[in-house]
Amino acid sequence: MKKKIIAEISDITKTFGGLVALSNIDLNIKGGEIFGLIGPNGAGKTTLFNILTGMYRPTKGFFKLEDVELTRLPPHLIVKAGLARTFQNIRLFGTMTGLENVMVGCHVRTNIGVVGAILRHKGARQEEERIKDRARSLIDYVGLNASSAQAASTLSYGDQRRLEIARALATSPKVIALDEPAAGMNPTETSQLRELLVKIREDGITILLIEHDVKLVMGLCDTVAVLDYGIKIAEGTPSEIKSNPEVIRAYLGGDVP
Ligand SMILES: Nc1ncnc2c1ncn2[C@@H]1O[C@H](COP(=O)(O)OP(=O)(O)OP(=O)(O)O)[C@@H](O)[C@H]1O
Ligand SMILES: [Mg+2]
Repeated sequence: MKKKIIAEISDITKTFGGLVALSNIDLNIKGGEIFGLIGPNGAGKTTLFNILTGMYRPTKGFFKLEDVELTRLPPHLIVKAGLARTFQNIRLFGTMTGLENVMVGCHVRTNIGVVGAILRHKGARQEEERIKDRARSLIDYVGLNASSAQAASTLSYGDQRRLEIARALATSPKVIALDEPAAGMNPTETSQLRELLVKIREDGITILLIEHDVKLVMGLCDTVAVLDYGIKIAEGTPSEIKSNPEVIRAYLGGDVP
């Protein structure tokens, strides 16, 4: 069965002064796939994530999630609409525990509100317990049980990256955008990450993945798009991308696995 398009990125262009960071980018991401976004440093990958998640406004173009246009909405409404992300430079609340970080993500979907949280009436307390349970199960899901009570800043790099994924999952996303989740991970951590991403896909969440680990990308992704100097130079299956002469010239070099 052909998969339906869940996210439509159309003609996205972004300039910073005279620099064209992204030029007329079109991408159609299918529901339930892992879509890889690769390309050399400075190609515009993170800039695209920043536009999709409402952190930057595009100069031109639009972005739709399940036919609802999200372009230019503020970040919190984009998360509510179902797009969550992690960051290339980890952004956790360092002094909060792992569990608390994930609870913050869960709050996107609660009805407590500020007054409820302050008064802590019975309904709010019950909801807080439900949130804690859900955060615990997400910590379990990403395999961080042993370290959930530690301050986030004391966790290993690989664990902090997994915690960021748990926090993003806590917002109940339809699409999760991961910016270099394997960066700084050792081979064991990378293979655990691969398993986690497969599990997330199996659970029906679409993954948009920026990653420099070519082996990981080619082994995991259903579709791969390649950016170079803000231009999409190729899009296809991993085997199509691996054998594309322009991709080899711009990015893969002699590095094709
Ligand atoms: N806020 C900004 N102001 C000015 N220029 C920016 C800004 N953000 C990104 N750029 C520029 O846009 C271009 C694309 O940067 P981007 O961070 O999107 O690349 P990337 O593909 O994520 O690279 P990397 O693999 O190194 O993370 C670069 O030339 C960068 O310097
Ligand atoms: Mg980047």
